[in-house]
Amino acid sequence: MKTVRTIEELRRIVGLWKKNNASVGFVPTMGFLHEGHESLIRRATEDNDRVVVSIFVNPAQFSPSEDLDRYPRDLEHDLERCKTLGVDLVFCPEVEEVYPAGFQTVVSVNSLSQSLCGKSRPTHFQGVCTVVSKLFVIVDANRAYFGQKDAQQLAIIRRMTRDLNFTVEIVSCPTIRESDGLAKSSRNKYLTTEERKVAPALNQALQLAEEAVEAGARDSTALRQLMEEHLSAVPLIHTDYLEIVDADSLQPVQKLSSSTLIAAAVFLGKTRLIDNRLLEPKTKNESESLLQASQA
Ligand code: PAJ
Repeated sequence: MKTVRTIEELRRIVGLWKKNNASVGFVPTMGFLHEGHESLIRRATEDNDRVVVSIFVNPAQFSPSEDLDRYPRDLEHDLERCKTLGVDLVFCPEVEEVYPAGFQTVVSVNSLSQSLCGKSRPTHFQGVCTVVSKLFVIVDANRAYFGQKDAQQLAIIRRMTRDLNFTVEIVSCPTIRESDGLAKSSRNKYLTTEERKVAPALNQALQLAEEAVEAGARDSTALRQLMEEHLSAVPLIHTDYLEIVDADSLQPVQKLSSSTLIAAAVFLGKTRLIDNRLLEPKTKNESESLLQASQA
């Protein structure tokens, strides 16, 4: 496995692979790798001849009041994990390599970046889009892998890829969870013992909503109330948002129909956790024909 710090060196190596017609998979990360990241890397190694992982804590996606300085880092452990997983190249540039003096371009996906997490993090997705588009151009991969855990990020990157005619195929991977249901996240490390104990309530609230939808519930207000009631009974948790939106446009929906995203963010002390469910509720006709098929 090669560890590369410059764009020039990365391009040289990927260029040689591509000359030999190798397919290239790319997994962008901010490091401190856990099983969520690892599932993306595994999928990339299954689908491609060569795999590139980037490890870069991107300052542009943190606001001045956020956790850039204390964001957890452990490059040695990350490189070890990548090697074990069969990664071919890890790109871990310094900030100046990505944003040299004089850098002033941004990539911004407008309305999708303003809802959900964008309300409390107004510049976050512009930072994500700027670095991801740079990385797409630098790595020139055939496929890039993103987690459903960050559903809004995924929707924005899909839109950006279409809008800017990037040729990379975006592959989404399911959310990996702890045994008590808490979605794995580098930020879980910030939780105190008491906060960690109650943190699974976020997934439980989403689970309750998902089960209600499976049982036929379609009204957003009732579903949000169900989740709110569950979360408000849990100590230490403060809801940032609970939203039911169309999975592509991220616009709120009143009645659930096709692809719907239930997205939630909560605060536990200073730590903000996000989670979601992507639901494909069946229409009445579909449910009836399924029932008939199962009875036949
Ligand atoms: P980071 O938070 O390190 O996440 C890297 C990738 O891992 C993202 O696609 C994220 O959705 C995925 N991921 C995180 N936790 C996961 C989990 N529990 N299950 C499945 N996938 C999970 O997201 C970023 O970095 C940055 O914004 C980045 C895209 C690298 C741009 O800087």
